[in-house]
Amino acid sequence: MSAWFNPARELDALIRRVATSVPALGADFDPQVRPATDTRHGDFQCNGVLAAAKIAKLNPRALATELLAALETEGTLKKAGFESDVAGPGFINFRLTPAALAEWIHEYRDADAWRRGASALYAGRNVVIDYPSPNTAKQMHVGHLRPIVIGEAVARLLEFCGAKLTRDNHIGDWGTNFGILILAIKRKGFILDASSPQALEDLEALYKEGSALTKADPAELDAARAELAKLQLGDTANTALWQQIVAVSNAAFQRIYDQFGLKSDVTLGESFYRDKVDQVYRELTECGLAEESDGALVVWHDDIPRFSRDAETKLPFIVRKKDGSSNYASTDLATILYRVEHMKAEEIVYVTDGRQQDHFQQLFITATKWFKATNRKLPRLRHVWFGTILGEDGKAIKTKSGDPVRLQSLIDEATAKAYEKVSEKNPELPEDERRTVIAPRIGVAALRYTDLGSNRTMDYRFSWEKMLSFEGNTAPYLLYQAVRVRSVFRNAGLKVGQGEEGASAPETPGEIALARKLLGFSAALEEACADLRPHALCTYLYDLAGAYSSFYADNKVLVDEPAVKARRLALCARTSALLESGLRLLGIEPLERM
Ligand code: ARG
Repeated sequence: MSAWFNPARELDALIRRVATSVPALGADFDPQVRPATDTRHGDFQCNGVLAAAKIAKLNPRALATELLAALETEGTLKKAGFESDVAGPGFINFRLTPAALAEWIHEYRDADAWRRGASALYAGRNVVIDYPSPNTAKQMHVGHLRPIVIGEAVARLLEFCGAKLTRDNHIGDWGTNFGILILAIKRKGFILDASSPQALEDLEALYKEGSALTKADPAELDAARAELAKLQLGDTANTALWQQIVAVSNAAFQRIYDQFGLKSDVTLGESFYRDKVDQVYRELTECGLAEESDGALVVWHDDIPRFSRDAETKLPFIVRKKDGSSNYASTDLATILYRVEHMKAEEIVYVTDGRQQDHFQQLFITATKWFKATNRKLPRLRHVWFGTILGEDGKAIKTKSGDPVRLQSLIDEATAKAYEKVSEKNPELPEDERRTVIAPRIGVAALRYTDLGSNRTMDYRFSWEKMLSFEGNTAPYLLYQAVRVRSVFRNAGLKVGQGEEGASAPETPGEIALARKLLGFSAALEEACADLRPHALCTYLYDLAGAYSSFYADNKVLVDEPAVKARRLALCARTSALLESGLRLLGIEPLERM
C-alpha cells in the first residue's frame, strides 16, 4: 500500500471506522489522535478511550486493549506502517516503523507530490480571497504590509491545498474623499500622469490641501460636496478625473505588489458595486431585516446583545447613509452576492486589520439572515484579521512629521540593511549579484517572515536587528539553511534528488528524527490551513532546519557505504525541497547562494 500523506489524519479516520465494531465506542467515538507528547513513546497517541470509558463505566485500559485488538485484526495498522501499544491508564501509542518512514520519503519527493497529498483538504472548492484591498489615492504605508504578506501566504496555502482560488483585490475606490480631491485638482489645474512615480504623492498632498481648505471654509466644503454629487451622478468631467486618480493609485500599488510577487486575478473595487446596492436595500427591506432610522437604512441584530437596539453602544449595521448614498456595509453585502453568483464562491476569505472585526461580524450575520430569507446558499465567510505592527519603542511606527512610514521606504531600508549584512558575511560574491539579486530578496523576505512568523492576531514589534539576523527564527536563517543543504549536493557533484537509489531505511537517531520531522509537514500544513494562520508553517520550517542541523552534525552524508550514503542523500534532498517549497508557500523565493 502507498504511504499516507498525513498519517495522523488517516489514523484518526481508521480508528473511527474500526471503533464502530467495538460496542462500547460506536460511531460517535472521537479518538483524539494527537502528536505524541513524548516522542520516545511513539509518533502519535490516541487519547479518546479515556473519556469513552468513563461514559460507558468501563476500565479504560481494557477498552483500549479491545480497540487495539480490533485495529490489529484488520491487519491494516501493520500495513500502514505502525507499531502500537497501550500505555498508562488507557492511551494508545502509535509509532511509524523505519520502513514506513522510508516509504513516505520515497513517495513524497517534491512539491507536486505534497500538493497532491494536500489537495484533499480543499478538493477543488471555489474560494475567493479578498486582499490586499487598499484604499485609493493614498500611498501604501507600513499598515499595508500585513494584508499583502498575510493575504499572499494564505492564498498560496489555500491553493496548495487544492482550492480553486480567485484573488480579488477589493480596492476602496468610491469614498467621499473624491469630492475633496476633485475640487483640489480643479482649483490647482493639476495634470495627472499615472506613469509618474511622483503622481500618488502629489495626490496625497493635494488631498491634504483640499481637506484644509474645506475645513476652513464652509463654502469650499459645499463645493467639494457638489463635486462628489456630480461624480455620483456620472458627470463626464468628474468621472474622467476619478478614473485618472484610480489609475494613478493602481500604478503606484502595482510597483509595490511587484516587489512582493503579488498578482490579483481581478480588481473589483467598491465602485464596481455602486449599481448593485439597490437590490440589497430592496431585499433587506422586503425580508424585514432592514428598517429606516433617521433617514438611514439600518439592520439591528436583537439576537446578538452587542448589536441589538438595547445595547448601550447603539451599533446598528448602517447599510444606507442618511444622504441616500451607499457605504462600506452595503457594498460588502452586494459583493458577497456577486461573488456567489458570478464567481461561484463557496468560501470567501477577507484579510484585514483586527479593527474591522465588528464590521465583518455584522456583515456575516446580516448575510446569513439575508441568504436564508431569500433561499440562497451561503458561502463560508471567514475574516482573517491581524494585529498592529509597532515600532521598536512599542508605539505606532511614524515618521518625524507624524505620518505613517511609507511601505516603499521600509522595503528600501530592508534592502540596504540586507546588502550590508550579505557583504559582511560573504564579500566574495559578485557586487552586482549582492546588490541586485540577493539584497532585495533578503530584504523583502525579512519583512515578510517577521510578519508571518508570529501569530497573526497578535501585535508585534518591528526590529531590524532581529529580522535580519542570520540566527534564530528568521528569513535569513532559513534562506541560508536552504542554501547549505543545496551545497551538500554541489560538493558531491550531484543535482538535488540524485544518488538515492538503493537507500536503506533511516536508522541513526538523527536520521529518524529528521525523517519524522519531514513527515510532520502535512500536519503543519493542516494546522496552518485550519485557522488560516501561516505562522504554523514558519514554526515548522524553523524546526525542520533545526532537525537538519542536528542530523548533519552527527551523520556524515558522503560515506563509502552506498545504501547509507543514498538514504542520507534522500533525507537531504527532501529537506532541501521542503525548505524551499515551504518558503515559497510563504511567498519567499529561495536563493542559489548568499
Ligand atoms: N479597503 C479596506 C481598507 O483599507 C479593506 C477592504 C477589505 N475588503 C472588504 N471586502 N471589505 O480598510
